[in-house]
Amino acid sequence: MPRSVQSPRVLNIEDLRRVAKRQLPRVVFDYIDGGAEDERTSRANCRAFEEVTFRPRCAVATPACDLRVSVLGQSLSMPLILAPVGSSRLMYPRGEEAAAAAAGEAGIAYTLSTLSGCRLEDVAAASKGTVWYQVYLVGGRDCALSAIERAKAAGYSALVVTIDTAVAGMRERDLRNGAKELLGDRFGSKLPFVSQLLTRPGWLARFLADGGLMKFQNVVIPGQGPMLYADVTAALGDAVVTWDDLKWIQQAWGGPIVIKGVHTADDARHAVDVGAKALVVSNHGGRQLDGVAPTLRVLPEVVATVGDQIEVLVDGGIRRGSDIVKALCLGARAVMAGRAYAYGLGAAGGAGVARAIEILRADLIRTLKLLGCPSLAELDQSYIDVPAGWPTGRAASRNG
Ligand SMILES: Cc1cc2nc3c(=O)[nH]c(=O)nc-3n(C[C@H](O)[C@H](O)[C@H](O)COP(=O)(O)O)c2cc1C
Repeated sequence: MPRSVQSPRVLNIEDLRRVAKRQLPRVVFDYIDGGAEDERTSRANCRAFEEVTFRPRCAVATPACDLRVSVLGQSLSMPLILAPVGSSRLMYPRGEEAAAAAAGEAGIAYTLSTLSGCRLEDVAAASKGTVWYQVYLVGGRDCALSAIERAKAAGYSALVVTIDTAVAGMRERDLRNGAKELLGDRFGSKLPFVSQLLTRPGWLARFLADGGLMKFQNVVIPGQGPMLYADVTAALGDAVVTWDDLKWIQQAWGGPIVIKGVHTADDARHAVDVGAKALVVSNHGGRQLDGVAPTLRVLPEVVATVGDQIEVLVDGGIRRGSDIVKALCLGARAVMAGRAYAYGLGAAGGAGVARAIEILRADLIRTLKLLGCPSLAELDQSYIDVPAGWPTGRAASRNG
């Protein structure tokens, strides 16, 4: 592992974030770090974890802390799944393969985004563990169907359908940094923005050696080939997925489906109704609709409504192992993390991802011991205090 991400330089995820910021051009760092509009939800996701406090049981010995959980019938070494993070190949050469390999090595699952630069077959081959495929309907139904077939053949064990992306969120940092111009083909439009690439010569050299600007290798448009990077925003606008689409997606996939992007008990019920096996309470890390509630606040309502019918996962704002513990106390089976490992990838490739996972694992064990809790299975609301006014277990719904 490179010294730049070892202890004592990197002790936590915020340290990895700082290293990533030094390594990456601003346009790439802000793509990871940023959220939609005023970034209120993005910040609120993290703040919600700060608002929940622990109620430890002291003078209790917890000699062995078993972190294993089963998600969709598969055993993971800890309750963490790497969330789909598009364009990981911009963060580090063959970024998706590097992240999947690190996850597999650590015994946790990796989710590959549709919007990735590496071929899904290569990513599956790079991991010795569980891999899931996240599908967007960019490029149209036939395009999605061919990716689903390929994912099945390559051994992906679950299909994650993201439902919160009817259109790309308004990521103002990306616009200010000239992401669109840098991705386009007009040299003159790029000029005002290229200096940010030149100030990161190490990244630039690696990026060029990796083939430069990638195409989306898993969005193969009939008659045209892999989708160009510049086309992604428009393509997302034409790619809304509806509950009706779940029928043909389900039929084509034939395996477990995970609905990602549930914000309310109503949509959690929809996920159950369409036969999904798991859902992710997620607001896309605050990158889509700004102003929605932080996910940790929504989690109890979803668990109370459908927790006995479907596996409930949550993401958004996980930066410490203690955050994972809080999510489990509120009923999540496991969590997904996006930025926590994307910072690691930007900081040092696969080694940085491995370091992020290692930090979260050590945090988890320490937190359980300090709580006096012998195993993950025993975590419940008695180990935490939730601020007054938070919905806890209320099965709220407009539709009854
Ligand atoms: C750089 C970046 C790219 C993302 N790309 C996707 C994507 O392609 N598909 C998707 O479903 N979610 C995507 N997400 C959302 C993550 O899967 C996840 O919901 C979010 O990162 C969780 O919040 P956290 O970053 O605070 O952990 C992306 C997130 C980030 C940070």
